[in-house]
Amino acid sequence: MAKIVFEEVTKTFPTKDRKNRRNRRNKEQFTALDGIDLEIEAGEFVVVVGPSGCGKSTLLDLLGGLTRPSSGRILLDGKPITGPGLDRGIVFQQYALLPWRTALGNVEFGLEATGVPRRERSSRAREFLDLVGLTGFEDRHPHELSGGMRQRVAIARSLAYDPDVLLMDEPFAALDAQTRESLQDELRRIWQRTGKTVVFITHGIEEAVYLGQKVAVMTSRPGRVKEIVPVSFGARGDGFQGEDLRSSPEFARYRHEIWTLLHDEVARAQQLEKEEATV
Ligand SMILES: Nc1ncnc2c1ncn2[C@@H]1O[C@H](COP(=O)(O)OP(=O)(O)O)[C@@H](O)[C@H]1O
Ligand SMILES: [Mg+2]
Repeated sequence: MAKIVFEEVTKTFPTKDRKNRRNRRNKEQFTALDGIDLEIEAGEFVVVVGPSGCGKSTLLDLLGGLTRPSSGRILLDGKPITGPGLDRGIVFQQYALLPWRTALGNVEFGLEATGVPRRERSSRAREFLDLVGLTGFEDRHPHELSGGMRQRVAIARSLAYDPDVLLMDEPFAALDAQTRESLQDELRRIWQRTGKTVVFITHGIEEAVYLGQKVAVMTSRPGRVKEIVPVSFGARGDGFQGEDLRSSPEFARYRHEIWTLLHDEVARAQQLEKEEATV
């Protein structure tokens, strides 16, 4: 049985905005996602890539149980998602850390809801800060950490209560290129070590190719899954990563394939906007 199944999932938002009114049958609705079908296996690393505004965050919010589908359903371990849960950890683009708590305190915070005893919380939090390479920074507050370090804390916090599924919405988008690439390596290492199911959202093609075992390319609005591109690098198991992998011909082929799929969508979105402007 697949870990996560999207069955004909649609998400509409009520709107008064004429510009966004694409669905003429129901003039008060804006369709953000239209018939998403997607299956994700346990332990898989799936990247969802798509143009801005195509519904990526909407899709992740649905998975996180933060909102409900307008129609269709999403199954997790065969059961419909009815709300947020400790079986899913979410990492957003902005560092959703508590500014008055230290790095350790922020990771412990995630454990307080799970009923882990106080003493165990601290040792577990240290263990996960170590996993993301932050040993020695336990007592720093968020403002004393770099952007990359803050995002590491956010990852440690979502891993500490041991969710099966890690949901990530453009978590590295605000970081500089070098930090982003090193966090991509860290994330792959953590995924390999922990065997979590990861759903990672990005608008970056290189990031998608580098991270994903499968890359789901979305259409521009309303969002649908246009194509799923399986990505595999034969030599990856032999430590083939970083610049070697990024500059390989295989990498360039995948990048081009996904670029072509996305390029058509961006062109279509621009055309839609032009039509709407003249209505
Ligand atoms: N709560 C909401 N109410 C109305 N419209 C929304 C809401 N959330 C998202 N949208 C609209 O749905 C579309 C998809 O948004 P989003 O999922 O954030 O896209 P992405 O993350 O791919 O950039 C956008 O046009 C956005 O304006
Ligand atoms: Mg988004």
